[in-house]
Amino acid sequence: MPELTPRRILVTSALPYANGPLHLGHLLETIQTDIWVRFQKLRGHDCRYVCADDAHGTAIMLKAEQEGITPEALIARVQADHMADFEGFHIGFDHYHSTHSEENRHYSTLIYQRLRDNGHIATREVTQAFDPEKGLFLADRFIKGTCPRCGADDQYGDNCEACGATYSPTELKNPRSALSGATPVEKASTHYFFTLTAFADFLKRWTRAGHVQPEVANKLAEWLDAGLQDWDISRDAPYFGFEIPDAPGKYFYVWLDAPIGYMASFQALCDREGLDFDAYWQQGSEAELYHFIGKDIINFHALFWPAMLSSAQFRTPTGVFAHGFLTVNGKKMSKSRGTFIMAKTWREHLDTEGLRYYFAAKLGASVDDIDLNLEDFVQRVNSDLVGKVVNIASRCAKFINQQFGNELAASLDRPELVEAAIEAGAGIAEAFEAREYARAIREIMAVADSANQYIDERKPWVLAKDPNQTELAHKVCTTGIHLFRLLALYLKPVTPQMVARAEVFLNEHLDWAGLERLRCGETVNPFEPLMGRIDPKTVAALVDASAAQTAAAQTASPAPKATGKPMINIDDFDKIDLRIARIEKAELVEGADKLLRLTLNLGDETRTVFSGIRAAYGDPAVLEGRLTVMIVNLAPRKMKFGVSEGMVLAAGPGGKDIFLLSPDSGATPGMAVK
Ligand code: MSP
Ligand code: ZN
Repeated sequence: MPELTPRRILVTSALPYANGPLHLGHLLETIQTDIWVRFQKLRGHDCRYVCADDAHGTAIMLKAEQEGITPEALIARVQADHMADFEGFHIGFDHYHSTHSEENRHYSTLIYQRLRDNGHIATREVTQAFDPEKGLFLADRFIKGTCPRCGADDQYGDNCEACGATYSPTELKNPRSALSGATPVEKASTHYFFTLTAFADFLKRWTRAGHVQPEVANKLAEWLDAGLQDWDISRDAPYFGFEIPDAPGKYFYVWLDAPIGYMASFQALCDREGLDFDAYWQQGSEAELYHFIGKDIINFHALFWPAMLSSAQFRTPTGVFAHGFLTVNGKKMSKSRGTFIMAKTWREHLDTEGLRYYFAAKLGASVDDIDLNLEDFVQRVNSDLVGKVVNIASRCAKFINQQFGNELAASLDRPELVEAAIEAGAGIAEAFEAREYARAIREIMAVADSANQYIDERKPWVLAKDPNQTELAHKVCTTGIHLFRLLALYLKPVTPQMVARAEVFLNEHLDWAGLERLRCGETVNPFEPLMGRIDPKTVAALVDASAAQTAAAQTASPAPKATGKPMINIDDFDKIDLRIARIEKAELVEGADKLLRLTLNLGDETRTVFSGIRAAYGDPAVLEGRLTVMIVNLAPRKMKFGVSEGMVLAAGPGGKDIFLLSPDSGATPGMAVK
């Protein structure tokens, strides 16, 4: 085997926002990263993996406010949740930090000062929507209003969900703050910009120098050709983040200090383990630096970040690896379908290594989206991991344990099979290295198939019964265990817990350096089950639980009081045509002790409505001449006493306590009520 020169590698995953729980989309990323890190470690490289919670920004500030707690309390709670989830999925961070940390304040300040001293910070007046009630500048997503194109109401600041139009929030009709409902006003303020435009040439070179995937380089080239703009890195108070050192009342935009959080987390690791920070981050460093990210945040990592690093005289990333988005059962994760699955819910229902295996079996190095098909998931894990891999060990281990006193035979039955399985390692390693996990898994399963085929042919369970064949049975099982050992080694980055159990059985710590090792004549330990089959019912229960959570979250949402009636949206409400009506006549109805017959004047027409308010208006004459509000587009209803052509609105608990609404005298019959 060729000698491996140890590499010094630092790896990161994108920092999850500290305002909510992790879902399977986040895990796709951390599992992808963790497999790569574990593979590097298995190969004997010096590889470190750091991450952190992304704790700053308006969303976190508002969420804390909504919960009535401090942002610090919110981010501490969320971080603890995130870390528990990551641990449950065996994400082996060397350190997990927070962007709301002293290390991050230090590096954010340092980098900002260097950018400024290099002339890469500019200030400019920016006029923006401002919520006068909350005293906050409003990002586009916090402004709602009527779509200027199709007239749909309640659309967000920059695009219409009804017709798909995109526009600027200033074009919205009846704009209002999604936070307070107040009408936004325009307000100017000084903003700080990072002069990204000064880095156009640098970025054109950098993005073509093999640091990003080819399809990402093409996308970036489009953006670069269209022309860069300076990047607004400041936000006005109130903001949860770091105040800009020389600009009181101005804060670093969350996306400025977020990637610096990679450095901060690594600094904390250095402090803990005595590593040399500069050896990794100084310009010209020979250490490798890789960022695993989702395709939605490429611009931050492949444009802003390398430009900032280069201005601040730090090294730039060796590679930025973008992955696609996770879909479930072929569609975007959906709360109502129960496919918006939280990490925690998964942990409560299923083993987490099955998901790691499934993601690995699907992941390539491209930015294509990845689908988790839940049926396929069950089938895949049961047939590959349980049916093929675990099965080899359980079929051979029994005899080694029971008949041969845990001792492996002195030689193999079919050394060439083991030899071939060792040789497969090179291609498997290459695939892991290139993040072509799906290919790695295919090649690993090909080894498993040949091992199973061999055992099926040799039938050790038959040989073991025949006293003349004991020696052969011993050799066959020993060969099977050797094949299993290689499978365990190859799968170690993917299913570390299962392989840890296999290592106990094999009585050996597996690493790539020991790839070619033979175990003939050595002892193993009693075999314990490595992994059980997944019952499809548990997956169904997971989906049900996820859907139920969503339903619970919806009923728990603060706005509506429980009325026993379903929520309606603004479109539903819009369908109701409310008009002012004058009660011309109010009469008792023969034979109906609850009803009054009302004759209502709508200006240009007269309607008859039967209303159940007699108990409150024993003398109906007092109603005559009064104004009320009526629903004029309610379908007419045939009643015993005639047709009711609408409904009048009244307030009160019922019985004697019913009050017809009497609008201001300025109202006239027929007037629309809004
Ligand atoms: N806080 C920023 C990242 C800052 S990195 C300096 C952020 N946070 S996030 O919580 O929204 O997303 C974290 C990572 O998870 C991102 O890489 C994002 O692409 C990824 N994913 C979030 N949802 C995803 C899917 N549904 N599918 C796959 N990955 C997705 O962005
Ligand atoms: Zn529209």
